[in-house]
Amino acid sequence: MTTAAFIGLGNMGYPMAGHLARAGLEVTVYNRTRDKADRWVEEFGGRAALTPALAARDAEFVFVCVGNDRDLRQVTLEDNGAVHTLARDAVLVDHTTASATMAETLDAACREKGACFMDAPVSGGQQGAENGQLSIMCGAEPVTFERLSPVLAHYGKTVVHMGAVGQGQLTKMANQICVASVIEGVAEALSFARDAGLDAEKAARVIGAGAGGSWQLINRHATMLADQYDHGFAVDWMRKDLDICLAEATRLGTSLPATALINEFYKEVQSMGGGRWDTSSLLRRLRRHRDD
Ligand SMILES: NC(=O)c1ccc[n+]([C@@H]2O[C@H](COP(=O)([O-])OP(=O)(O)OC[C@H]3O[C@@H](n4cnc5c(N)ncnc54)[C@H](OP(=O)(O)O)[C@@H]3O)[C@@H](O)[C@H]2O)c1
Repeated sequence: MTTAAFIGLGNMGYPMAGHLARAGLEVTVYNRTRDKADRWVEEFGGRAALTPALAARDAEFVFVCVGNDRDLRQVTLEDNGAVHTLARDAVLVDHTTASATMAETLDAACREKGACFMDAPVSGGQQGAENGQLSIMCGAEPVTFERLSPVLAHYGKTVVHMGAVGQGQLTKMANQICVASVIEGVAEALSFARDAGLDAEKAARVIGAGAGGSWQLINRHATMLADQYDHGFAVDWMRKDLDICLAEATRLGTSLPATALINEFYKEVQSMGGGRWDTSSLLRRLRRHRDD
């Protein structure tokens, strides 16, 4: 039986680890807040470990899905981190949206242990994780990708090898650049439709069926028009991702003017108390400016 460890049972990690257990892997989980790990074991079987190092011991594949670079460093490289107990030939797979530099650091640490590394950030949200429909962007040696791709298929609908370590994270950055502009565009279109006296719901439906359609417009317009922002990817996470994108763009000497501006808009949403609102709350910011 394939043995796996899963570290970080948040909105994404919890269902992803569940898919692995349901597929028949022997899964040991670790979560900083112990209750969630116990709840997971009750639901899916397997075992909960007290530290990332104990979870990773004897696992063929070690998956991580935590918040940011700092969290990732804590659960992998610092005391009781998973890298310390990685078996020779094991693979550490990181699903966190993190920097490409962090991927390179982890790759070097895994190599020292005779193990392999793959950065594999995801897109598709909590719903995609629950339904096993994620897009997964992978950076790894080809042989490592070959080993992992049947396993990732348990929760990934589109699993793509982008190239060497770090290229998964760079692809996720391009994804977030795209998403930020699309959401701002949808927010501006809905705000404009309202001010023009249109039936905004009807307008969203007809636009969604044509060239202006997008996942964000189709799936988010109804809740945006109802001023409800409590169900998706949080603004705090988007700010973290856009900071990563902008730092990488500076390093590359490439320009991201719209992304930089939308990052400022999200800072404003945070200052409105919206750090945990979902990312479509750019409409609430626009309406506040209109009413001022
Ligand atoms: N949510 C989405 O729609 C979505 C979509 C695509 C990508 N992502 C990315 O996926 C990653 C996880 O997102 P999420 O929504 O699952 O986040 P989340 O619900 O906030 O969960 C974060 C997980 O990381 C753990 N963690 C955080 N800091 C830690 C530390 N220092 N030491 C140990 N464990 C730590 C948390 O443990 P506790 O339970 O103890 O807090 C929790 O298990 C993020 O990088 C995010 O950007 C999220």
